Amino acid sequence: MLSTIEKSSPLRWLGKQLFNRNDPAGFFDPLLTMINPMWAQGFVAARIESVIDETPDTRTFLLQPSSRWHGFRAGQHINIIVDSDGVRHHRTFTVSSTPAQWRTDGTITLTIKRAPGGRITNWMHDHLQAGATIGISEAFGDFDLPAGPSPLLYIAGGSGITPVLSHLATLADSPYAAPVSLLYYVRTEADVIGAEILNSLAANWPALTVSIFHTEVGDESQHINPSHFKNVPELSERQVYLCGPKGLMDRIDELLAPFGLRDDQINKTFFSAPTSVPLDTPLGGAITFTRSSVNVESDGDAPLLEIAEAADLTPAYGCRMGICHQCSCKKTEGTVINRLTGKASGPGEETIQLCISVPQGPVSIDI
Ligand code: FES
Repeated sequence: MLSTIEKSSPLRWLGKQLFNRNDPAGFFDPLLTMINPMWAQGFVAARIESVIDETPDTRTFLLQPSSRWHGFRAGQHINIIVDSDGVRHHRTFTVSSTPAQWRTDGTITLTIKRAPGGRITNWMHDHLQAGATIGISEAFGDFDLPAGPSPLLYIAGGSGITPVLSHLATLADSPYAAPVSLLYYVRTEADVIGAEILNSLAANWPALTVSIFHTEVGDESQHINPSHFKNVPELSERQVYLCGPKGLMDRIDELLAPFGLRDDQINKTFFSAPTSVPLDTPLGGAITFTRSSVNVESDGDAPLLEIAEAADLTPAYGCRMGICHQCSCKKTEGTVINRLTGKASGPGEETIQLCISVPQGPVSIDI
């Protein structure tokens, strides 16, 4: 909406918009996207080329990002930007295809499971068809392939297989000589995501061993347990890649402990928002958002991003799960607890991620 001064000088207002370095796209995008949705400037536009059913509740969306997009490394994530019911939403998903595919034909895939009660995953399943256009961010994340040919162990649960599919297909395309094992946990056979790719990789790549466990067939031995590592020789030498629901990840931590792996051998990525870590000390406190001159009290384990939003502030965010760093900002004083690790920050000035930082006592944030 034009302010009073701007209304009195439409040309001046137009000039300001044309040269507004902070948000030129905010003015142009509605016009440009009416002509061609792929011309959006505020984010990278990506057209849905096709939608493929993977399982009863999982679909793969084949996307063609505009030529402005910079590509990705296997295992990285992107934020998608969609408008649903007039509200703009950002969600993070892992690219399930390979960088080689993008370099060849310019397409990528996102393999997305309906989250129970999940507003955006369900909306995507119900509304996104071939021909639609969504926004995407540049890729981010460091769930990277190893620099050298180390023996590898992948452990994935459910839709946590998506970065693993990208890794395995990338490795299979390279002269990767070291042994690679995958332990994949799904509820039933019908819930295997990427079954065709996994079958093809296992059939054509002798160094790869794929073991799939069905955890809802009423057989306790299908749940992850130490016997599943029997077919993973020299486990203590391997680089381990983990992606799955929190319960599985916690169990894996316990099971791997006796093998004496170093921290730098274990690579994790999360695909759901972190839950609170149990802490002995009380959380919450008086929060000051200094630049906005807003003071609020928090008496629970809400992260600062939610506290700021509840106070009608609009800090930047992307994944809301500690991956993308888009919510990073400066804490000028006070202690926060990292929800992912349970570790406390220092008391002074430092950069924190609002979405995973829970105040512990009075905190001042520079937003
Ligand atoms: S929103 Fe992505 S790290 Fe906080």
